[in-house]
Amino acid sequence: MIIGSVSENKEIEKRISITPEIAKKYINLGFEIQLSENYGRHLSFEDKEYNELGVTFVSDDKKLIENADIIIQMGLLDEDKISLLKSGQTFIGVLNPNENQNKLDELAKKKVNLFSLELLPRITRAQSMDILSSQANLAGYKAVVESFSIYEKAIPMMMTAAGTVPAAKVLVVGAGVAGLQAIATAKRMGAIVFATDVRMASKEQVESLGGKFLTVEETENLETEGGYAKETSEEFKKKQEKLLSDTLKKIDIIICTALIPGKKAPLIIKAKMLENMQPGSVIYDLAAVQGGNVELSEVDKIIEKNGVKIIGERNILNKLPTTSSSLYAKNVFNFVSNLYDKENKKISINLEDEIISKTIIK
Ligand code: NAI
Repeated sequence: MIIGSVSENKEIEKRISITPEIAKKYINLGFEIQLSENYGRHLSFEDKEYNELGVTFVSDDKKLIENADIIIQMGLLDEDKISLLKSGQTFIGVLNPNENQNKLDELAKKKVNLFSLELLPRITRAQSMDILSSQANLAGYKAVVESFSIYEKAIPMMMTAAGTVPAAKVLVVGAGVAGLQAIATAKRMGAIVFATDVRMASKEQVESLGGKFLTVEETENLETEGGYAKETSEEFKKKQEKLLSDTLKKIDIIICTALIPGKKAPLIIKAKMLENMQPGSVIYDLAAVQGGNVELSEVDKIIEKNGVKIIGERNILNKLPTTSSSLYAKNVFNFVSNLYDKENKKISINLEDEIISKTIIK
């Protein structure tokens, strides 16, 4: 069986789906690998390195797509490429069914097997395939590093002969995978860290990392059975706004990570709340592309309001493409291994397997 992957549009996506390390693993499993020329060159993975492992390069992407039994990408390809997909081929990536419903319906009608990895269930068996976790973890880390580099004061407390430098205070909004890594990273750098979430389960996790959890009082636990957040009531929003407005007076850096699957990101930091922050403060809105947790954030821009810088970037992982590709490629490899019937050397779509039934798009 041939696994193919074509180069992404590197202007908007620097991650790749098949690293040399993972190409070797696929080849050991019995797959043939075909890639676009210069597939990983921008990440210092030269074609020669892949060639030595037995990977073939195809100069024409259309031919590559036609040849492949399984196509692995970061996301859905451009129309001229996906229109080439045909019955029996398998396409794996983060396909964003909410936004791409029509295109996916058409492909499903053509009997292309489509698997969208952000739909993986958060069960123990799927942890090694969990692209949302691997990528969110790195995004949380990088958002802290980026914010700290823009912040014009030192982060850890320093007692020097010339005087004491106070530790920076960081607030993390949303303590899921990205938020917990942001807390851990900020703590390691010496910041004092506060965090808030609507899921009470996250309180213990925040505290175990040395963060102080800010609880919105007298509210129910807003967690779904799948472990995700529910949308909050108007009453909750008011209480959260009051709690955070008071807290912002002492906060230097905010990292926003709050999301609700399939919905617009909750608006948490309103414009007027920024008046409580000191000039020079920094906010990183990781949710900007989903609508933003911060009223003023804009995708791919740094907005300045009352001296507070608000950063919103479409894809922060383009600033960490090698590590994020390495984890993504491993996640997908684990997914393909689960899908592959080694004895009969074919894809086996067993809908009794929750990993397969939840990710397949029909
Ligand atoms: P996410 O990316 O959907 O949301 C990020 C965080 O924002 C969540 O913690 C959510 O509760 C919070 N949030 C949403 N609305 C908010 C609001 N209005 N105010 C404050 N916070 C708000 O979630 P993520 O990071 O993907 O994690 C979801 C859950 O899945 C967590 O419980 C996590 O522990 C769990 N998980 C389980 C895994 C497993 O294999 N068992 C693997 C990875 C995550």
